Amino acid sequence: MHTPDRTTAPTSWGLLLLLPLLACGGTSSADDSNAADNAGESSGGEVAVDDFDGDLSLDDEDAAPQAGTVMHRVSAAEVLGLDPPEAPWADMDAQARNDYMIGKVLPIMDEAFRNHDAAEYPELQCEACHGPDGEARRYAMPSAHASIVPEPGTRPWTGMEATFPEMVEFMQSEVVPKMTSIMGREITCASCHPSAAPAN
Ligand code: HEC
Ligand code: HEC
Repeated sequence: MHTPDRTTAPTSWGLLLLLPLLACGGTSSADDSNAADNAGESSGGEVAVDDFDGDLSLDDEDAAPQAGTVMHRVSAAEVLGLDPPEAPWADMDAQARNDYMIGKVLPIMDEAFRNHDAAEYPELQCEACHGPDGEARRYAMPSAHASIVPEPGTRPWTGMEATFPEMVEFMQSEVVPKMTSIMGREITCASCHPSAAPAN
């Protein structure tokens, strides 16, 4: 289906296509090195690699972030899936959490925000949720840069709903459920938004 020469590397195609998905799922380095080995074999024929337009790096370190870029052409939510991390979030160290944000949370939430309002959110970044100082604060949440979300049932909440009706609806129907699903833990407005004014 891809080229007349595909018979030179039919199995490598499958592996190359699977690689970004596996990498995104945070699989072991053993999987990555297997795939890379197989890709190395196929590059003798230069068929699969040539067809690949250079987007998919086979480097272990590059695989997850680049996979996020590639996934935009199809549905990130469908391809990456909305299932939770393999290990509970509480058991993941800072590096694993960071990788999961890059490989899964950002592509899926980028797609959700873009589908909601592509003009306002052409490409979601880490900063949208973590603020410009996110890295310096080790990505602690919520970010003080996010707007304050008041207590449900209060007048300020009603005011927020009146001011941002579509955004509140999007947060409730898309952002909170999708994040809860992919994080495998309860996510509320307060996971991202301060619920009261910061002390200073
Ligand atoms: C859609 C919002 C959103 C985006 C975009 C996002 N994050 Fe996060 N991130 C969160 C939330 C919410 C948490 C906290 C989850 C929890 O504690 O339940 C979090 C947690 C983290 C943590 C763990 C912090 C800790 O205290 O252990 C890291 C690291 C992180 N994010 C990095 C990133 C990076 C890097 C990016 C960009 C590639 C990114 N995040 C994009 C919402 C987001
Ligand atoms: C996973 C993180 C996350 C969660 C959970 C979340 N939000 Fe948001 N929210 C955002 C981001 C990112 C924006 C866009 C900020 C921007 O435009 O810079 C936003 C924007 C908004 C806005 C528009 C005003 C503004 O700051 O741009 C409102 C109102 C809002 N959220 C309310 C809520 C409510 C209510 C909930 C709970 C039902 C909620 N959010 C849950 C991340 C989150």
